[in-house]
Amino acid sequence: MARLQSPVEPFRIKVVEPIRRTSRAEREAALRKAGYNVFGLPASKIFIDLLTDSGTSAMSDAQWAGMMMGDESYAGARSFFRFEAAVKAVFGFAHVIPTHQGRAAERILFETLVKKGDFVPNNIHFDTTRANVEVRGATAVDLVNEGAYDPDLDRPFKGDMDIAKLERFIEVKGRARIPLVMMTITNNSGGGQPVSMANIRAVSAVCRKHKIPFFFDACRFAENAFFIKRREAGYARKSLPAIAREMFSYADGATMSAKKDALVNIGGFLALNDGALAARLKNLLIIGEGFPTYGGLAGRDLEAIARGLEEVLDDDYLEYRTAHVAYLGGLLDEAGVPIFKPVGGHAVYLLADRFLPHLPRDQYPGWALTVALYREAGIRAVEIGGVMFGKRDPRTGRETFPALEMVRLAIPRRVYSGSHLEFVAEALVSLHRKRDAIKGFRIVEQPPHLRHFTARFEEVR
Ligand code: F0G
Repeated sequence: MARLQSPVEPFRIKVVEPIRRTSRAEREAALRKAGYNVFGLPASKIFIDLLTDSGTSAMSDAQWAGMMMGDESYAGARSFFRFEAAVKAVFGFAHVIPTHQGRAAERILFETLVKKGDFVPNNIHFDTTRANVEVRGATAVDLVNEGAYDPDLDRPFKGDMDIAKLERFIEVKGRARIPLVMMTITNNSGGGQPVSMANIRAVSAVCRKHKIPFFFDACRFAENAFFIKRREAGYARKSLPAIAREMFSYADGATMSAKKDALVNIGGFLALNDGALAARLKNLLIIGEGFPTYGGLAGRDLEAIARGLEEVLDDDYLEYRTAHVAYLGGLLDEAGVPIFKPVGGHAVYLLADRFLPHLPRDQYPGWALTVALYREAGIRAVEIGGVMFGKRDPRTGRETFPALEMVRLAIPRRVYSGSHLEFVAEALVSLHRKRDAIKGFRIVEQPPHLRHFTARFEEVR
């Protein structure tokens, strides 16, 4: 199976963190203790951790050097101005507000703009944006194009919003009940798929026509910009910073989790053009996060984000990054392991219902696959299927399931080598051969909300 990965990592390793393989007996005991929920496993018992690409990046030597230079002044720190300048250079918005991570930016924005009975359209809301809309008593609406849910449709921009649906939605609900439109780049909940510049431009035009603010959920903006450069006519010769600036020029602002494409372990921000709105957001920031020149972060964190943003829009890095993720997808696809296509920017998504066709949805095939993958090889992935998104009627206990039953293998940035990915592929190919022996699960304990984090399970025998 091994073959040369092209292009190779455009960095070399200066610091290493040991990881340890465990015995099958150790993994079996850890699973039992965790109630067969991989969120309950201690990370020390995991060999390769593909739970998330968020906050798990390896920082560069320049970022670590910046950590030593963090200015920890409470107000007006030098590091804040470095951070503000870096965000403005990449995003082009007039006002920059630091937060401790992405969801804090979402909470502050939605608490200010969204009220009960409102609607917030998006291509597909990520869980935290959906939750932050719903706590306001508003409705989070997904208006992605129809093809987004078809795992076999190999299209370049499966994250695009359906413009006709957006137009119709605004007509039916009225602009007064739509305080903003969001757009997630790349579309995490739809397989990490990019959004085209043409679609961004079209959504922007609709929003401007109706005078509705348009914001990006911009966590993976650099990967999105790279896909535009590679896949969209007219962008092959444009620089990545120019493409990013063009994307953001069509919007009024963005929420950002710096834990993804700013290549840091913690941090986030809001960036926007409306000065009056920025002033209102800062009032809320002070209550929950901190003074506007640090917003829940240390000066050293702001310094690391500034340097990460300067590094990420690099052709060599993003070519490697997207090829690295696609490499894992290719190894699996060639061996007949069912995956969502095309491979997105930050993760490979397994189609668990096709992997384990003998398991009914109410035995949670995606969950069974995450447990089997850990048991087999000490690899942690995350289920994105019936446990995470299933809706349970509290009276009858009956459940309805989401369209797709998937397992996400999220690839941390600059952390694992090509041979780590080959190890993951080998483990999955071997599991796929033995798939008939994999058993389903039933839930024995679950909380009322976000059950996947803490529910406990037993194997169906
Ligand atoms: N928006 C998107 C599209 C995300 O993927 C995430 C986080 C957030 C917002 C929230 O950012 O974690 O900094 O508060 N996604 C992580 C994941 C958790 O695993 O996909 P945060």
